[in-house]
Amino acid sequence: MPSVYFQTFGCQMNVADSDALQRALAARGYAPVPAPEDADLIVVNTCSVREHAELRARARIAEFAAVKTRRPEMRIWVIGCMAERFGEKLKETIPGIDAVIGAPELVDAEAVVQRYIDKEKHAAAVNPVHPARGVSEFVPVMRGCDNYCAYCVVPFVRGRETSIPADDVVRAVSERVKDGVCEVTLLGQNVNSYNDNGNDFSDLLRRVAAIEGLLRIRFTTSHPKDLSEKLVHTIAGIPAVCRHIHLPVQSGSDRILSLMNRRYTVAHYRTLIEMIRKLLPDADITTDLLVGFPSEGEEDFASTLELVEQVRFTAAFMFAYSVRQGTAAAKLDDDVPRGTKTGRLNRLITLQTSITRSIYESMVGRTLAMMAYGPVEKRGAKFLKGQDRGCKRILIPCIDMKAGTILQVRAVRSSGMTIIAERI
Ligand code: SAH
Ligand code: SF4
Ligand code: F3S
Repeated sequence: MPSVYFQTFGCQMNVADSDALQRALAARGYAPVPAPEDADLIVVNTCSVREHAELRARARIAEFAAVKTRRPEMRIWVIGCMAERFGEKLKETIPGIDAVIGAPELVDAEAVVQRYIDKEKHAAAVNPVHPARGVSEFVPVMRGCDNYCAYCVVPFVRGRETSIPADDVVRAVSERVKDGVCEVTLLGQNVNSYNDNGNDFSDLLRRVAAIEGLLRIRFTTSHPKDLSEKLVHTIAGIPAVCRHIHLPVQSGSDRILSLMNRRYTVAHYRTLIEMIRKLLPDADITTDLLVGFPSEGEEDFASTLELVEQVRFTAAFMFAYSVRQGTAAAKLDDDVPRGTKTGRLNRLITLQTSITRSIYESMVGRTLAMMAYGPVEKRGAKFLKGQDRGCKRILIPCIDMKAGTILQVRAVRSSGMTIIAERI
């Protein structure tokens, strides 16, 4: 039986693409194995969003290529965003790669498998395998991005923005629910511009929420230029939609936002936060922040700190600017010294971490609805891991409980970025 090992870098969209490819391979008899040394096929799904992500992927591919020198029959596929960005050139810089498959081609996993597997093994008998599904999965609702934020490589590696027809999304979610999935996260770079023949993302949410057996719906990402009051109203009206809005702000300085081509102001962002807090008072709001964009000065950075202090995000992903060749910002002088970028990033992380801690601490004593994801071990003790209706992680001392169940729990204490709770 052929075997496959997946290594996935990057965002949730990559996780979804890897999952789709894994399933198409499973239908051809490829069984997942836990150790890359034992695999007949290694698939590395890559990310190009920052230089660091690319360096890590290159190092990992080189490690796999070293294994391959001992097992020449092994095949290595490099797929995803870096594959799109560098194409066949990757084969020259890292010897040992058999196929380079760019992110846009992965939209049709079935076609990928037909092209790269079936043509080699057209006569072989196939014994399909059935990899287990988790209880929570990602489902793309949009592909690509047309926003061209000045720093961002995604529009170049993922192609034009397209909405997946609502019928297809509903079919994909329903199939997963039949397989035992209880929660889905709908994915798009900017779900607020979803448009299927005039039906918007609110309409899509309502259709997905009507799927029987689906307990929770999450989605990401919302772009502040397009987040509408209608959508927040819709979320408020559907109990299955989780109370979590990821709304990347990137910077608290209007001058920097404009250079970034984000197409909103800090004032607009603040009105969105007010609107969300009014309509969804318990919602977790999270964000992405990017420091050290070209020309960012201390006063710009101070505005970012001020915004973070005032909004009090439940959590944030924070990054130092990394030049991506081919983007608009690559034409600007990358003039914030590396040390300054790291210094600002550390100050921001310190501030946000203290806010996250205090939000988690403020939950102690409260009753939360936790979806159980499965068992974990922490310092020798067994726990059941889960998430509340927002985005907060919860652990409860292990009890025998089927993953996918929603439990009422009381928060007992918080340890940084996790709530320790007990079952009521
Ligand atoms: N579509 C999402 C973001 C996808 S990329 C949105 O618009 O919000 C995820 C995050 O990576 C971005 O929000 C940004 O904070 C960060 N990022 C993107 N390009 C970057 C770069 N060149 N350097 C550093 N961080 C970057
Ligand atoms: Fe990148 Fe902007 Fe598109 Fe997000 S919206 S993927 S940051 S270009
Ligand atoms: Fe995602 Fe990285 Fe590609 S963030 S879309 S995997 S460049």
